[in-house]
Amino acid sequence: MRNTAQLITAASAVATLLGALSVSLPVAAAEPSVLEQGKAISFDNRKGNCLACHQIEGGDLPGNIGPPLVVMKARFPDKAKLRAQIFDSTQANPNSIMPPFGRHQILTSDELDKVVEFIYSL
Ligand code: HEC
Repeated sequence: MRNTAQLITAASAVATLLGALSVSLPVAAAEPSVLEQGKAISFDNRKGNCLACHQIEGGDLPGNIGPPLVVMKARFPDKAKLRAQIFDSTQANPNSIMPPFGRHQILTSDELDKVVEFIYSL
């Protein structure tokens, strides 16, 4: 009787341990990369919403108000200039209809950095 009880206790301890492992491992592996986070922020219509105006690879139903965002390293060899464009588009074009994402704090500095990394990868 006593042995059975001990066995059950030991078995449930092993099950708990396995359960904890199987829960914690996939969570650690699922942490999205900076590029994935930047893409999610860019595509989120309550964040970057870049697809409303720009064609971006992997994005559905893009608008065409702005130019397609392709070969960005050729167009913006200097990543700082790309960041400046997204931070405040009115610096380059005072009449720009592109929202000044940084100046108006539509995106946080951290979100903007991730968007820049993603756009720079296109
Ligand atoms: C309301 C429309 C609109 C939205 C939303 C928008 N843009 Fe733009 N974007 C434009 C327009 C229009 C231009 C063309 C230049 C100008 O008029 O300022 C432009 C230009 C750009 C350029 C310069 C492209 C080049 O080759 O010169 C980049 C980079 C850019 N946008 C990135 C973004 C990113 C990243 C987002 C989302 C975080 C975004 N845009 C959201 C309208 C928009």
